Amino acid sequence: MKIIDNIKELKEEIKKLKGSIGLVPTMGALHNGHLSLIKRAVNENDNVVVSIFVNPIQFGINEDLDKYPRQLKQDAFLCEKERVDIIFAPKASEMYSDEKNNLTLICPPYEVVDKLCGKSRPGHFDGVCSVVAKLFNLTKADKAYFGQKDAQQLFIVKKMVKDLNFDVEIISCPIIREADNLALSSRNQYLTENDRKLALNISKALFNIKKLFSEGIVDIKALVDVSLKIMEGLDVEYIEFADRNTFNFQTKADRNTIVLIAAKVPESKTRLIDNINLWE
Ligand code: PAF
Repeated sequence: MKIIDNIKELKEEIKKLKGSIGLVPTMGALHNGHLSLIKRAVNENDNVVVSIFVNPIQFGINEDLDKYPRQLKQDAFLCEKERVDIIFAPKASEMYSDEKNNLTLICPPYEVVDKLCGKSRPGHFDGVCSVVAKLFNLTKADKAYFGQKDAQQLFIVKKMVKDLNFDVEIISCPIIREADNLALSSRNQYLTENDRKLALNISKALFNIKKLFSEGIVDIKALVDVSLKIMEGLDVEYIEFADRNTFNFQTKADRNTIVLIAAKVPESKTRLIDNINLWE
């Protein structure tokens, strides 16, 4: 496995590869969720590139860019075990020769970013799309693997690929959860014991909505009210019901509904997201 930190060398190595290329874009601090994407990429491609890059231009000024966990040595160990071919782990200065406001960015339309995570994180998806587009160009990936936990990100990346005719297939991979249903996230590392207990109520609320829906309850207000009770003690940023194919908000739950939650836990102020499809 090669660990590459510069664009010139990456391009040279990519040129040498024979067969298909799978890309797993990550910000590192790899957990079993990432490993599930990597395993799938290894199964489905002749070559696999994992990018590990804490992308500064997708973080807002008051967000956790500086404290975001960085553990390249441990990540490299895990990738090597999975038979990854290349880790691409550049410095920010290698990826961006200029300040964000002086870069050419990919900006998804207002309709898809001015809601859910995009609402409280202005510019976040411009940063995500711009870095992902660069990674597609640099790695010449045939397939790229994204987790469904970041459902809005997945939707927006798929739209970018379609709108801009990128020659890459986006593979969406299921959310991986702990035994107690907490969705895996690199940010779970920030949680205190008490935060973790409270954080469990996010998935509890989601699974409860799915159960109530299966019993015939489609009234969103009723489903939200019961969920907010379950999530008492958390600072709920949003709980929304959207059509999973369009991400338009709904007035009634149906078989296409994805329910999405973002909430902060009180002690570490960690912002967590999770979601569930009501029918799958
Ligand atoms: O989901 C992430 O980890 C990041 O948003 C991504 C896709 C690697 C882009 O920086």
